[in-house]
Amino acid sequence: MRILVTGSSGFLGAPLCRTLEGAGHQLVKLSSRNCDLTQQSSLEAYSGDRYDLVYHLAAWTQAGDFCLRHPGEQWVINQQINTSVLAWWSAHQKQAKLVIMGTSCAYAPESDLSEEKYMDGEPIDSLYTYAMTKRMLYQGARALNRQYGLRYLCAVPSTLYGPGYHVDGRQMHFIFDLIRKVIRGKELGEPVTLWGDGHQKREIVFVDDFVRALLRLVERVDNDLVNIGAGEEHSIREFASHICRIVGYPEERIGYDTSRYVGATTKCLNVAKVRRLLPEYSLVPLADGLRSTIAWFYESKAYLQ
Ligand SMILES: NC(=O)c1ccc[n+]([C@@H]2O[C@H](COP(=O)([O-])OP(=O)(O)OC[C@H]3O[C@@H](n4cnc5c(N)ncnc54)[C@H](OP(=O)(O)O)[C@@H]3O)[C@@H](O)[C@H]2O)c1
Repeated sequence: MRILVTGSSGFLGAPLCRTLEGAGHQLVKLSSRNCDLTQQSSLEAYSGDRYDLVYHLAAWTQAGDFCLRHPGEQWVINQQINTSVLAWWSAHQKQAKLVIMGTSCAYAPESDLSEEKYMDGEPIDSLYTYAMTKRMLYQGARALNRQYGLRYLCAVPSTLYGPGYHVDGRQMHFIFDLIRKVIRGKELGEPVTLWGDGHQKREIVFVDDFVRALLRLVERVDNDLVNIGAGEEHSIREFASHICRIVGYPEERIGYDTSRYVGATTKCLNVAKVRRLLPEYSLVPLADGLRSTIAWFYESKAYLQ
């Protein structure tokens, strides 16, 4: 198949592209280095080719309190990026199925995080803008499906983890920050202080498991939104405990700073639908996923950044 991928250099884009290329597909890989998607004209160069699939992963965001501090920029930039892709898809690539990424933050905190509630209620305040741009992306795909019959799939990932994360100073998702702090505590003797009281809960999905589930959903599901989550969450203290055991750092030395931003206190996607659609759906055990992520931190010396 001929496949165009936006966001191909990202944490998710890189393993997705590796898997697609490994399966023999022909890829055009876009990142901000070869295509500024905030400019509508940026995709013109690719209009002459016909793609079977377009994976749209590009987004301008970071973890931590980034969304809280950049809501205006995030609105403008992500709306521009998404509108460029949607407009190009409907004008030049009607035959292609568009695969887009949602976010678990789009769900209202009081919802049960099942797919039919994705557009209901209001997202939490600190992630409101980012969440709404994701909802608008989904609505864009739905609208173009309704008017022109274009095909799409919207996948909603929970936080992804695994080897190959960025270490260029951008804010990290909590699990990488946690691993980095514990390794630095062990190797460099730095104090380990985590944000919040450690009782806030999160779920994480190993990035290769996500890619595998996504590819199967793309084959089987049209014009729908599907959560891809772990279906169970753990407290930050539980994650810390696993990581300390693997790294060999005394858990009791970890301090907690309750004055820092922690976002939602609990967030666990409902995964009944993906389990129904993919009876074979399964994730690597948490300890194994953490072990390979920690091994990558050591091999790449990412904990020194
Ligand atoms: N990672 C997660 O846990 C997670 C969870 C939920 C949803 N998602 C969604 O999944 C998608 C991929 O996430 P990720 O973690 O791989 O993100 P990421 O590592 O931040 O990668 C973002 C990608 O977007 C590209 N990009 C940013 N601005 C661009 C622009 N103006 N023009 C063209 N390309 C641009 C980046 O290119 P450069 O590398 O050149 O800057 C990069 O390839 C995103 O839509 C994200 O919202 C991710």
